[in-house]
Amino acid sequence: MKNKLIFLLLLCFFLDINAFAKDNRTLLKLPYATREDMLRSMRKYIGTMENILKALSKKDFVKVEELASYWLLGEQGKINLALKGNDQFIAMAVEFHTTGAVEIIKAARKKNLEATLMSLSSFFGRCNACHANFRLTEWPSTDYPPAAPKVIKIPSDYNEHEWIRREYKK
Ligand code: HEC
Repeated sequence: MKNKLIFLLLLCFFLDINAFAKDNRTLLKLPYATREDMLRSMRKYIGTMENILKALSKKDFVKVEELASYWLLGEQGKINLALKGNDQFIAMAVEFHTTGAVEIIKAARKKNLEATLMSLSSFFGRCNACHANFRLTEWPSTDYPPAAPKVIKIPSDYNEHEWIRREYKK
């Protein structure tokens, strides 16, 4: 029993080892309200991306253009950005909200599916580039003990795709 527990603890440690790697990204030290505002808009970005992909699957380029235009830099956006306190972050955010968003709009206006997908791909690349360099929370952040494992419910039809597990070695 004791051995099993030690084994489990060790397993948790190894599986979770990345969680112990120090986060060396630049921390933006912002007031709580500003940070929460930023994270709220970030979460909204994923919703916009969801709707853009939906519109694209219907070849509704007018909708794609309209949705991508939410990402353009407006007057209020400039004021908010100026208060982020880091030149590199501001430069990346400006490029994202100008060059990046304009690329999607231009491709959608031409109703060019490949170019629109490509512009979305580079746009996502900009999300990743910024996330790779900046963070908003201190390291180490709030810590809690590991949660007790739960029973995971797998959709019943998942097991019908035996070949998926075979070919992808899962
Ligand atoms: C110019 C920088 C920048 C760009 C561009 C950017 N983000 Fe972020 N985003 C951040 C930072 C900084 C955080 C906080 C990350 C952290 O503390 O680990 C963040 C956090 C997030 C989060 C976590 C939200 C939460 O509730 O914790 C999501 C989701 C997210 N971004 C989505 C996106 C998506 C999708 C895009 C592109 C369409 C994007 N971001 C573009 C800087 C950026």
